[in-house]
Amino acid sequence: MSHEDFPTEDPAVVTCGLPYANGDLHIGHLRTYVGGDIYSRALKRLGQETAFVSGSDMHGTPVAVNAAEEGVTPEEFALRHHERYEETFPKFDVEFDNYGHTHDETNLETTQEIVRTLEEEGYVYEKEIPVAYDPEADQWLPDRFVEGACPYCGEHARGDECDEGCGRHLEPGEIEDPVSTVTGNAAEYRNREHKFFAVSDLQEYLVEFIDRLEGTSNAQNQPREWIEGELQDWCITRDMDWGVDYPGEEDLVLYVWVDAPIEYISSTKQYTERVGSDVFDWEAAWKASGSGAVDGDGAGGSDGAGGPTGGGEIVHIIGRDIIQHHTVFWPAMLRAAGYAEPRAVMASGFITLEGKGFSTSRDRAVWADEYLDEGFRPDLLRYYLATNGGFQQDVDFSWGRFRERVNNELVGTVGNFVYRSLLFAAREFGGSPDVDVSEDVRARIETAIEEFEAGVNEYSVRAVGESAVRLAQFGNEYIQRNEPWKLDDDDPEKARVIRDCVQIAKAVAVLFEPVTPEAAENIWSDLNEDGDVHAAGIDAALDPATQAFDEPTELFEKIPAERVEELNEKLEERVEAATEDDHSGADDDTDGDREDGGAGNASAADLEPIADERIGFEDFQALDIRVGEIVAAEGVEGADKLAKLTVDIGLEERQIVAGIKQLHDLDSLVGETIVVVANLEKAELFGVESNGMLLAAGEQADLLTTHGDAVPGTKIR
Ligand code: 2FM
Ligand code: ZN
Repeated sequence: MSHEDFPTEDPAVVTCGLPYANGDLHIGHLRTYVGGDIYSRALKRLGQETAFVSGSDMHGTPVAVNAAEEGVTPEEFALRHHERYEETFPKFDVEFDNYGHTHDETNLETTQEIVRTLEEEGYVYEKEIPVAYDPEADQWLPDRFVEGACPYCGEHARGDECDEGCGRHLEPGEIEDPVSTVTGNAAEYRNREHKFFAVSDLQEYLVEFIDRLEGTSNAQNQPREWIEGELQDWCITRDMDWGVDYPGEEDLVLYVWVDAPIEYISSTKQYTERVGSDVFDWEAAWKASGSGAVDGDGAGGSDGAGGPTGGGEIVHIIGRDIIQHHTVFWPAMLRAAGYAEPRAVMASGFITLEGKGFSTSRDRAVWADEYLDEGFRPDLLRYYLATNGGFQQDVDFSWGRFRERVNNELVGTVGNFVYRSLLFAAREFGGSPDVDVSEDVRARIETAIEEFEAGVNEYSVRAVGESAVRLAQFGNEYIQRNEPWKLDDDDPEKARVIRDCVQIAKAVAVLFEPVTPEAAENIWSDLNEDGDVHAAGIDAALDPATQAFDEPTELFEKIPAERVEELNEKLEERVEAATEDDHSGADDDTDGDREDGGAGNASAADLEPIADERIGFEDFQALDIRVGEIVAAEGVEGADKLAKLTVDIGLEERQIVAGIKQLHDLDSLVGETIVVVANLEKAELFGVESNGMLLAAGEQADLLTTHGDAVPGTKIR
């Protein structure tokens, strides 16, 4: 099913994944929140009624473990972090319509109500399962209180997720060789009754749902295999005190992943409570139209199939490590409880810092507060994060690249165009000349509006940002081509060119507002425009700008090269100091967070030594290494990590199987140039023949490529 284009008549809810209330925010975290803010501002610009909501994730072992280490109650600990997040987001102009938390009354009530509905509808059953237990500490070991090996890939796993291998969600009892993180002793499994949500009853529904889900392609591709395979039911209770009490059970709380997404609903409810349902009606957005909850029998009898569930336009913006929760468990819960399904999931790629992973324990991060303390405006980071690669691609942050993009694009293109145009207009005409905008400039602004709209409908925050930058680039070329400074004062052409440039500047303000709200505000006030640029609709880009105004201010400032050196040095010094403190050398991160993009990015200390044994040139020559072009890419069925690629190596097409399924968006690999060992012996992986090997670097499988125009088949020497 394809949905109607935005804007639609229905209310939209844009949500951002809830940050665990347990650490400081760094710029890697901000990618999702900035992306969400841009997307929601862009929807509002198009006239879509939109609520932008999120909240802090207060429960679960990620918070409980850290609170225990600090010797404070989880509530005190989580509230403190929640308050910091609440303060930090607006400093980056991330303006939620409501930012709540999962331990507030609204969420406690909504969660219990939804769980009761799931029970009433027959989707919850009890089952005895093995649960990790620490006999010395005499306590159960939910989630992050236990570590061990992933039963699927053998890599290190903590509690409910395989954090260093395949990234799968793990159910209680699944982890192998369990060790208690409380005492460090081996844990034992003891049988215990827990509550299960019958996700498998909703399999047929989920199969259809995933087909109509919009957003980034990774969110649709990654879970397909889970949904179409043997869908496991989901244990929704834990032996803990901290969490939302399971209704009617004294010693059980709900698994954090039940009440966390429900905060999306609760936060929207709170927004309605504040502004009134005539401004935003949470029920119209979240409640399924028609029959309400779908009956299940809790024992695998019902298939829960059926079409879309009505409601509003729900768009979830998350990191790609939590796709499964948002495309399997969450829609199943919504469906079973009579709520509307998400229209789209936008899952961002990871972010690295100067080519390596963020490490909060080693202080290898650019912290949110630190960025601001260095005197940088939020607009610059927002622009970088939004446009330095597609949303689902992995992105590297480096101060050098940051400077380059700020200086070239924000200062050189946007700032330069707006400043020179408005300065000329103010000096020569005291503002905007009172003549009509020429037809071709109007048409170019219309094209920019179309690019902006397409960006929204394709869930591309980058395209939204680029629509404005490209327009400014056109403006620069236009003013350069027409050279109004060479025209006589009484030449009508002079007034027309300047009028056109003023209109382009106004359109840039409107189109760039989602990405750089502060710059948009400055252009608006320089233009002496009435009203609020943040409330302006997209059509304001073409509304006449004909008023008087004074000389403008500079929009952005250049970053000098020395600043980059200074910032890099600071970072290195800090990492060194933190690494010296960390005698074990191991990353003992205890903020319970994921090191976005960090998993497996080797630091110099971790690099494998260079092989002692030298090989002769003939040995090297025996390798037939070729340039290849990926023609098709799909996952290998039943294998979590493997992808099957069809690669054009000039003389023929090869089928190559590689362990990159979870590390790359397979759709976007098509057309990529890679490097292939063409004369490797054939192998069979998961029953699929692999005829060659592609070359890649590091645990994130960074694919090797060529940078010139070598055609497929070119030999690499
Ligand atoms: O993975 C995390 O960081 C979770 N706190 C995200 C929750 S998102 C939502 F579904 F609640
Ligand atoms: Zn695994």
